Amino acid sequence: MNISVIGTGYVGLTLSALLSKAGHKVHCIDVVPEKIETIKQGKSYFYELGLDNLVKFGIDSGNLIPTLDYEEGVKDADLVFLSVGTPSGEDGGWDLTYVYDAVASAAKYIKDGTIFIQRSTVPVGTGKRAMVIIKETNPDVKFTYLSSPEFLREGSAVLDSIIQDRIVVGGDNDEAKQKIFDLFEEIERMADKITEETPEIHEYACTYIMNGDHKEGTFKDKCVSTCLESAELIKVCSNTFLATKISFANNVARVCDQVGANVNEVMNGVGLDRRIGRSFLYAGLGFGGGCFPKDVKGLIRSTEDLGVDASLFQQVYDLNMSQVEYVVEQVKDMDILPPTRIGVLGLAFKPGTSDVRVSPACRLCQSLARAGYDVVATDPQAIEESKKDYPEEKNFKYVETTEEVFKDADLVILATEWPEYKNLDYSKYADAMKNKAFFDARNCLDRKKMEEIFKFDNLGA
Ligand code: UDX
Repeated sequence: MNISVIGTGYVGLTLSALLSKAGHKVHCIDVVPEKIETIKQGKSYFYELGLDNLVKFGIDSGNLIPTLDYEEGVKDADLVFLSVGTPSGEDGGWDLTYVYDAVASAAKYIKDGTIFIQRSTVPVGTGKRAMVIIKETNPDVKFTYLSSPEFLREGSAVLDSIIQDRIVVGGDNDEAKQKIFDLFEEIERMADKITEETPEIHEYACTYIMNGDHKEGTFKDKCVSTCLESAELIKVCSNTFLATKISFANNVARVCDQVGANVNEVMNGVGLDRRIGRSFLYAGLGFGGGCFPKDVKGLIRSTEDLGVDASLFQQVYDLNMSQVEYVVEQVKDMDILPPTRIGVLGLAFKPGTSDVRVSPACRLCQSLARAGYDVVATDPQAIEESKKDYPEEKNFKYVETTEEVFKDADLVILATEWPEYKNLDYSKYADAMKNKAFFDARNCLDRKKMEEIFKFDNLGA
């Protein structure tokens, strides 16, 4: 098939690369020339496990064609996937400018029978508006519009896009919906081939499947066919529910801190209830990234716009954003007071990515620096992106190595649970500190072992 994918972010570029690997001719369109140039050279412009290999294959085979030109990109397309960014707008809702611009730009050039598939996270009602735009732009063309939200996680974008938990397709054209289910089944059938060719994905896949994340059942069992509005809501509600679990765990951690309970033990017990489950109940610095904060805020805005009470969602958001300040208070409770020196391990919003959008780790560095501490921070992947989004300040500097984080520090905080930090032999680093104190803000280190080396604390454990 001729396929066009608009937007080359985590969702769009991963999908483009996989579709081209499956043998389809894929035009991936973006409006940023530097991004298109990098993809033309056979690589991704952001870090994502296994993606470079796939992009290189797509470019070398000639199946993946990056372009800035909408006409070239969509004129022959049977399918047009929409995966442009939907950032937070000034009012807290999603800014849909890019979505509607992309829809209008593509609508000018599509042929009869083209199917639009919305993959970005958008508020309910976006599809209806998009269809009006297409009709107004190109009144005579026959088209179908579907919503098929993407649920991939950064850091495992490739694997999540190959083996999806569920495939949701909303709209009112059953034949078109079936085409999308078939396309994703075709991608899933490549799982073994891709994981064999890309050892690092293979390694991750083994862990992933052993962790029990992988569901049994046939592909058909995972296909969810809905109306347009339901599909739009499924994505936003999934993210907000997961965010709710995280804020719940962080709220419980604060209770544990008061009574000497251990939040990991509590959540292990709670999570064994099959109706609840253990995932996303890990207390820590809170959620960040390009999705959860924006999507929870977006749901609050669109719920309020509909005249429905959104206070439950608001609490989830507020508790999350206050978690960084809660950690600053915990640090003060350890008698580590400004202007002492604090080293921070980790800047990315979670391990496995260089993304620092709304990163709790970066926000923590800023907050500590503004409270008067002398802060140095590092990360295995995210220093460059952090420097752009969170520039160095008087009391806040980036350093390249773990050694520099510990040197002369009065306290070190683990802020992003990268495997290299989880597995570090801390006894080798402690001697370089001025005062041996450590705060595990991701609750991922062995308290007993750490207490042998440091004055140690963490969240609710
Ligand atoms: C999320 C959704 O998981 C994905 O389905 C959707 O398509 C996009 O948003 P992502 O933002 O990549 O994916 O990250 P995810 O792994 O879900 O983590 C989100 C944030 O929550 C991270 O900051 C992570 O550190 C935090 N988190 C997650 C916790 O603090 N505790 C947990 O138990 C789980």
